[in-house]
Amino acid sequence: MGACSVLPTRSCTARISVNPLRASAWRQRSRASIKAVCVDARHRESGLLRERATPVRFDGVARSMTMVELPRVIPDQPGRPAWGDVARPMQELTRAISLDRDAWTPERVAQIRSFFDSAASGWRDRDAPERHDALLDALTRGGPFPSGWCVEVGSGTGNATADLQQAFHDVVSLDLSREMLRLASVRGQLMQSDASALPLRTGSAAVVVLINMFLFPAETSRVLADDGVLLWVSTNGEETPIYLPPADVLSALPGTWDGTTSQAGWGTWLTGRRVNA
Ligand SMILES: C[S@@+](CC[C@H](N)C(=O)[O-])C[C@H]1O[C@@H](n2cnc3c(N)ncnc32)[C@H](O)[C@@H]1O
Repeated sequence: MGACSVLPTRSCTARISVNPLRASAWRQRSRASIKAVCVDARHRESGLLRERATPVRFDGVARSMTMVELPRVIPDQPGRPAWGDVARPMQELTRAISLDRDAWTPERVAQIRSFFDSAASGWRDRDAPERHDALLDALTRGGPFPSGWCVEVGSGTGNATADLQQAFHDVVSLDLSREMLRLASVRGQLMQSDASALPLRTGSAAVVVLINMFLFPAETSRVLADDGVLLWVSTNGEETPIYLPPADVLSALPGTWDGTTSQAGWGTWLTGRRVNA
């Protein structure tokens, strides 16, 4: 199946024409500079999209890594959501998916898609300046980032997409949930896709961004260029429902990776790079 057949072309057009951005400074800035373009065949020619899926093995072997923890520069803020035990089942699922690709069953896909389709109408209301602190800190201190495609996986309603569009020239945002994409608050290049089988060429992404999103280690590693950077953000720190500790993110990836991590506001972030890339 060709990659372009997964594009939600009709809803993409509607979304681009209607969604106003919320009145926050960084979004106001980026609004003017973002072009409303759906992903199309041009991006296959540019080397991002692949012809068809290629299976990748994950051997599950533990490997050594270096993790640099930078001191916090953005202080913790009041008002941080307290999920407590409610977050536990999603955290367990996040771990299971990161360790075993077979945990992502067709039933699970349907369940998660339905869950986020239902949550989509209220997702933009969850946004708050504090939810951006970790990403903005990572973009400031977690580099350098190579030039090329920034691929945001699990973009939801695009609450963080404008930040990425400010930082990177080419950003494509993908999500499993059609409703999330339909209600996205940002103009840009959006695709409906399952992160376990991305319609992207091997080694085509300079940066893969996962914000409060499941980690599919083999597929993430496959699409990242050899010198590519994985950017992992948990906007509510270790209480984020879809969460893994930074060290566990790196050890789940195939091969050997080094990381830089820090805390910022409510959140935590990690940038990971292959060793000897
Ligand atoms: C917790 S939300 C985070 C959304 C956004 N990154 C944010 O922080 O506001 C997780 C998002 O990942 C998407 N998602 C879950 N599983 C996915 C998968 N296998 N492939 C692509 N997107 C997925 C959901 O539809 C949802 O929009």
